[in-house]
Amino acid sequence: MPSAERTILVTSALPYANGPIHIGHLVEYIQTDIWVRFQRMRGHRCLYVCADDAHGTPIMLKAQQEGVTPEALIARVGAEHRADFADFAIGFDNYYTTHSPENRAFANRIYEGLRAGGHIVTRAIRQAYDPVKEMFLPDRFIRGECPRCGAQDQYGDSCEVCGATYSPTDLKNPVSALSGATPVERATEHDFVRLADFEPMLREWTGSGALQPEIVHKLDEWFQAGLQDWDITRDAPYFGFEMPGKPDKYFYVWLDAPVGYLASFRNLCDRRPDLDFDAFWAPESTAEVYHFIGKDIAYFHTLFWPAELTGGGFRRPSAVHCHGFLTVNGQKMSKSRGTFISARTYLEHLDPEYLRYYFAAKLGAGIDDIDLSLEDFVQRVNADLVGKVVNIASRCAGFIHKRFEGRLADRLADPGLFSAFVERGEAIAELFEGREYGRAMREVMQLADQANAWIDERKPWQVAKEPGREAELQAICSLGLELFRVLAIYLKPVLPRVAERVESFLDVPPLAWADLDRPLLGHRVRPFTPLMTRVERERVDAMVDAAKPRTAPAESATPVTGSVVGIDEFAKVDLRVARVLAAETVEGADKLLRLTLDLGGETRTVFAGIRSAYDAAALVGRLTVVVANLAPRKMRFGVSEGMVLAAGPGGKDIFLLAPDEGAEPGMRVK
Ligand code: MSP
Ligand code: ZN
Repeated sequence: MPSAERTILVTSALPYANGPIHIGHLVEYIQTDIWVRFQRMRGHRCLYVCADDAHGTPIMLKAQQEGVTPEALIARVGAEHRADFADFAIGFDNYYTTHSPENRAFANRIYEGLRAGGHIVTRAIRQAYDPVKEMFLPDRFIRGECPRCGAQDQYGDSCEVCGATYSPTDLKNPVSALSGATPVERATEHDFVRLADFEPMLREWTGSGALQPEIVHKLDEWFQAGLQDWDITRDAPYFGFEMPGKPDKYFYVWLDAPVGYLASFRNLCDRRPDLDFDAFWAPESTAEVYHFIGKDIAYFHTLFWPAELTGGGFRRPSAVHCHGFLTVNGQKMSKSRGTFISARTYLEHLDPEYLRYYFAAKLGAGIDDIDLSLEDFVQRVNADLVGKVVNIASRCAGFIHKRFEGRLADRLADPGLFSAFVERGEAIAELFEGREYGRAMREVMQLADQANAWIDERKPWQVAKEPGREAELQAICSLGLELFRVLAIYLKPVLPRVAERVESFLDVPPLAWADLDRPLLGHRVRPFTPLMTRVERERVDAMVDAAKPRTAPAESATPVTGSVVGIDEFAKVDLRVARVLAAETVEGADKLLRLTLDLGGETRTVFAGIRSAYDAAALVGRLTVVVANLAPRKMRFGVSEGMVLAAGPGGKDIFLLAPDEGAEPGMRVK
């Protein structure tokens, strides 16, 4: 039976507020939610909080792109995330945002604490700056030629072709990915956390059993390489929290992101008088605190985060649990293959509990990647859940309903078998506790096989035909339903909605672990309604189709006009803002206008077939978009050095693309 009541706080990583939740993310939220539901079923007090990670350059830029404020963007994405999680039955006690007053207060407290402890140094540094966008450029926003292999168009921190890592100043012919301008170096002052100050604490903590062996191994490598000072400042413009006493300086998003765990929990405590924040987070707290994260962000959670907590006067987490990455059909999720599936697209086609079960069946305690093979998904869900588990109930429920008015027998037909099922409970609980869900599911399916075999041997469908064997029929079917009830308890952390339907069918209060050995003798159940239907392969295919970019032709569909251009090819097109300096009609060509364009210091002649829609004089002074790297084309009237972009069916309805005022000739269009 469960040990004494535990008090537990659990978190999942905070998803970025600039994009939708996808099935890769869901590995984590499903893994965490199963663990939390399991703890609650064991009678423990288990709180689960999360939030959107709302700060940083990508979110600021995405809002600019959409022409909305960052606040509006994060509000919209936050609402989408909440809906996605709710539909996947992720049972957060609180889902908050890092852009909150609580988070600002905690971030400041941690920063001040680190400073008071002498762990912050301020240093002048030189950093790449985009003179057009007027902002410092994160490494990821600088592109250029790899200094090692010469590959074109590589990121500022690493080369995707040869794998070299370097600093953006090493790139050859660097350009800003935002404006196309050549970055210049500029001086600025940043604060750094001296991580090395925390090395003894970190070594002690990592040796305390809080981490998986694979992560301890990684940490040893990081210790060996030497802990570098951590740059926690970003210059304006930035979307985040301004640093106290430092105008135009902001906390780097990763400083206040994990602080969101504290802030979300604080926000929950303010609504829940039964919860005491300090009982969870004060250094002397005896509550358990667990972070579930992906292995890609282990560095932040096992080095920076414990240092931040220590600086702010908080306890450290009891453990950090890392999981691996999701692949689909053995490969990285891919938009073009239709395997980059958003939570919403999945929900439009399939039951979320199929995915919860499939991930559970695949998950272990380690950091290995897990694969969603779509064929195996269909097969496994149908064979296990529908074919084995639900089958037990559907074979027995009909007889109980029709022949016994829903009443179960007063005695167990096979007390030994029932006990054997209940006795597996502790082993299965241990597997859940240790995040070995795959092994737990195998145990449950073995029991389901046993239950089905027992029913097969007793042949209730035959017994039902023979007069005088009523009591036997009732006893067989009652035990079948009783074994089914035990399995429903074991599966409830994974399949909370199926479990609810089972509870309603059995007419019992919410099932908990303690109900295992309380058989429903003489109890009346309700009429049986289907608990789960089979997955159809066609629905999976339809989902994959829906996840494909709309421009890519589906194999069976009629071909679209024109050929398909991949993003890499498209990226080669150099689109620039241009101003029309002069426009003239062309002798002998009644469709064309000869345009003289200013591309920011450079003048070009372009012939455009827009005369039917535009008066030459009306175009002078206007902005448009031009393909600047189109090979020059010799025409009868002269050479065209580019192409202006316009859309429409033709005739009067041709519309020249016109960027908003404020755009400057020469700017790169993204
Ligand atoms: N915002 C940060 C986390 C801050 S926590 C203080 C972040 N966000 S994320 O949206 O990129 O990822 C959220 C979580 O989902 C991370 O734990 C990440 O590892 C996980 N996953 C994202 N893609 C994933 C897969 N393809 N597979 C499995 N987990 C994945 O990182
Ligand atoms: Zn390279």
